[in-house]
Amino acid sequence: MVLGIDLGTCNTLCATLSRDGYPVLIPDAYSNLTTMPSMVFIDEDMAIAGTAAEQHLELKPDKNTIRFFKRNFGTTQPVYFDRNGKPWFSETVAAIMLKKVKQNAEMFSPDPVEGVVITVPAHYNDNQRKSVIEAAKLAGLPLQFILDEPVAGALHYLMEARNDNEIVLVYDYGGGTFDLTLLTKMGREVHTLAKDGLSAFGGKELDELIANRIMETYERLFREAFPFDVYNSNKLMRDAEQIKLQLSMQMNKRLSKWLYYGQQAFEFTINPTDFSNLIRQSLQRIDQVITGCLRSVGISQTDVNKVVLIGGSSQFPQVEAFWKERLGAHQQLITHNPMQSVAMGAALYAGSLMPGYASRSGQLELKNASSYNLALSYQDFRAPDDVLLLKNSPLPISVRRSFQLPPNGKIDYGLVQYWDASQLFPMGRIIIGPLSSKGYTQVDFVLENRSNGTIAIKVTEANSDKPVKFQFVKEQSEFSYDFEEQKKQLDKLLVL
Ligand SMILES: Nc1ncnc2c1ncn2[C@@H]1O[C@H](COP(=O)(O)OP(=O)(O)OP(=O)(O)O)[C@@H](O)[C@H]1O
Ligand SMILES: [Mg+2]
Repeated sequence: MVLGIDLGTCNTLCATLSRDGYPVLIPDAYSNLTTMPSMVFIDEDMAIAGTAAEQHLELKPDKNTIRFFKRNFGTTQPVYFDRNGKPWFSETVAAIMLKKVKQNAEMFSPDPVEGVVITVPAHYNDNQRKSVIEAAKLAGLPLQFILDEPVAGALHYLMEARNDNEIVLVYDYGGGTFDLTLLTKMGREVHTLAKDGLSAFGGKELDELIANRIMETYERLFREAFPFDVYNSNKLMRDAEQIKLQLSMQMNKRLSKWLYYGQQAFEFTINPTDFSNLIRQSLQRIDQVITGCLRSVGISQTDVNKVVLIGGSSQFPQVEAFWKERLGAHQQLITHNPMQSVAMGAALYAGSLMPGYASRSGQLELKNASSYNLALSYQDFRAPDDVLLLKNSPLPISVRRSFQLPPNGKIDYGLVQYWDASQLFPMGRIIIGPLSSKGYTQVDFVLENRSNGTIAIKVTEANSDKPVKFQFVKEQSEFSYDFEEQKKQLDKLLVL
């Protein structure tokens, strides 16, 4: 069987294909629910993942249940330390979640898992994409491709679409990220025209705004600091999310709820106008991203034929109202199934990549676009001095630069990824040489941005095309990730 996995900040879903090629969601064998919280609880030689981990959090809120590990992809910041003080990284915790997904699939069908597509936010950079590939490797999954979440969502809606050349805007407002993708379909080809987004901008941020209100109320009523401990922090975030969901469902009603923390109980009230203002502020930021994204490819909002809303946070009535205000009669707003379409689209693509699998999508050809600008930094490893690649370039793409290396000379340049000049992300330093040669050597530096958005670097001697050894040094962090070490830790665990 093939699997499409939506590894979300808050929720993980997995779909496969029916015999006639339709995407079908695979339920969690424990709960029979098709949506699993992206949560993991590790206890010595055992780990609980998904719905069971969420229930464990309810029963034992004082224990450290790992959530939001997706936020740490692309960093070497551990998400958990075990009793022996050993660090666990986001890749390893994600691998536990992926192992659970695989177990569910194996309970669902006797066919072995032969091909897997995992989705990632469209604006993910090289490091973050490589973290997801690493997690799949740790979990032992046969990964075929990592696919942008909005593209996967769009594939689900577009598989039967008759109209070619339509411009589709996918608006993905999830638990942890906001992603925007413009794409078009021509026969079996799906082209990404432009991407944009905001990281660390999703439902979680709205939960935090409500949590702040709760804490302020507590501190005002009882004239004491909010009693922070693992128990109260977990409870605070759960209460905040529940209040948010209730407000989303009963838009115009005042909401009050009794809350308990430590020894204190109080009635928390929030009026709908206050909450709507919070959402409106978020939508304003999103509006700027939409305008910038359309402008970057010279498309006006009236040229868009379809807007597809995906992700849990796009279910706010304010989001639908925001779009209804903007769209004309000729433009279609697609709002159904916003939390499931990514996994289902990923399964369709997994089927299309695997010969012999019936997929409703047939043999699809995806033409991706780059998610960020890439530049070499000659000065301080951070400032972009020589732009190699512009955001939204069609992928795959290769860029070449030639350098003259003096005898025993060395090149030490920085590679920088960036969305815009205010958000520079140094990827690392490329160190070429010293080469033991008598005269000058001309070396060719080739950078490839592959179809899956990751980067590969090759350095060769210009005359002979012989590979030249080079180092790629990433910024040092206090913790170092080691695949074998993490795999050893992981393989010791019984995943439930
Ligand atoms: N009806 C609703 N109204 C508003 N928000 C909702 C609703 N239902 C779910 N959410 C919120 O949606 C978020 C989860 O959405 P989703 O499952 O799409 O995110 P995710 O895929 O885990 O995250 P991401 O794609 O950002 O990594 C949570 O913050 C949840 O509170
Ligand atoms: Mg998502």
